[in-house]
Amino acid sequence: MKSILVTGGCGFIGSNFVRWELKTDPDLRIVNLDKLTYAGNLENVADLESNPRHRFVQADVANRTSVTELLRSEPFDAVVHFAAESHVDRSILDSGPFVQTNIVGTQVLLDACRAANIPRYVQVSTDEVYGSLGAEGYFTEDTPLAPNSPYSASKAAGDLLVRAYFHTFGFPAVITRCSNNYGPYQFPEKLIPLFVANALEDRPLPVYGTGENVRDWIHVLDHVRGVDAAMRRGRVGEVYNFGGRNEVRNIDLTRLLLELLGKPESLIRYVTDRPGHDQRYAIDCAKAERELGWSPQVDFREGLRETIAWYLSHTDWVNRIRSGEYRRYYAEQYGGRTETGVRRQESGEAT
Ligand code: NAD
Ligand code: DAU
Repeated sequence: MKSILVTGGCGFIGSNFVRWELKTDPDLRIVNLDKLTYAGNLENVADLESNPRHRFVQADVANRTSVTELLRSEPFDAVVHFAAESHVDRSILDSGPFVQTNIVGTQVLLDACRAANIPRYVQVSTDEVYGSLGAEGYFTEDTPLAPNSPYSASKAAGDLLVRAYFHTFGFPAVITRCSNNYGPYQFPEKLIPLFVANALEDRPLPVYGTGENVRDWIHVLDHVRGVDAAMRRGRVGEVYNFGGRNEVRNIDLTRLLLELLGKPESLIRYVTDRPGHDQRYAIDCAKAERELGWSPQVDFREGLRETIAWYLSHTDWVNRIRSGEYRRYYAEQYGGRTETGVRRQESGEAT
């Protein structure tokens, strides 16, 4: 591949993808289209500023004129679509931007890609489109879609449009669905960077509900390698799941973070649950292992240690984010949540 268009390349996963591609493929040029919402940050790609193989274009993926013109302006070998509103809690406060970006934005991009005869399109989606699991079982690519939050519903709608464009027009699309990512450059509204930042300031860690919800954590670079494999080797019309084979309860993760940070468990606060909170996500990634030769590589404890070290050495990055619009969001999201004093059966301790 000589040239690709990446959307959302100034966000968490997109910026890691852009940096990794430029490093591992010396012949590749990348155009990075990003609207720079609250979650998009040019600082995330500041080290690429003088790289002639990276060009940033500020645009809204839902703006038909800008997107169509950009896709007409030069030939791309692939389009990789990361841009999205990505945070479940924000989608509960206001689903409007999620419908606009994740559904309308995907439709606009698909039309522009078709018009430009793009030979390969990757829709970066999420395991949340499958809904929630009980104690047993795994999400496979054949699990029916059953999204529960406005965020996951908007992602599922985007996926269904991609599926329909493949079936109706033979559009050369691949869909990837990954579990919870962690790593450098993650916006500190998500569990891991939020809890690290709060703990470093000796502020409470707000654990929703009982803390028994389970997520399957994967290092962002393992996800990046998966998207790369899907872009280069994925079969058109197929879905590929990626996961870390690493299920962890939120409360266990919280305790591990505190242990690695050398902070006391007294910082834990059980607060009102997220409405409609999915109980458990767990990914069966055997298809990606078999067909793409991909597998998760990063050991969780080691990856977490490195991630914490990254946040410790990037306190300016975190502080700049936490001093802006984020303050208003934090007050709205957590201000009205009451401490529940959940009693944990396993230890009998009241918190
Ligand atoms: P993020 O919120 O950190 O970044 C999103 C990026 O998209 C930002 O740079 C933002 O400015 C840009 N963007 C938002 N709306 C836009 C618009 N209308 N036009 C152009 N750019 C726009 O998100 P992330 O965590 O990096 O997630 C990236 C993608 O991966 C999303 O599609 C998400 O659904 C998917 N995903 C995320 C995870 C995860 O754990 N974070 C897991 C699986 C899949
Ligand atoms: O599974 C993939 C998805 O993972 C992605 O599609 C989403 O873009 C990404 O945001 C993430 O969604 P989650 O809702 O699982 O991630 P979040 O970090 O918001 O929450 C992780 C778990 O921690 C979840 O069970 C809710 C809980 N939580 C979260 C926050 C922010 C808390 O207990 N307290 C909190 O303050």
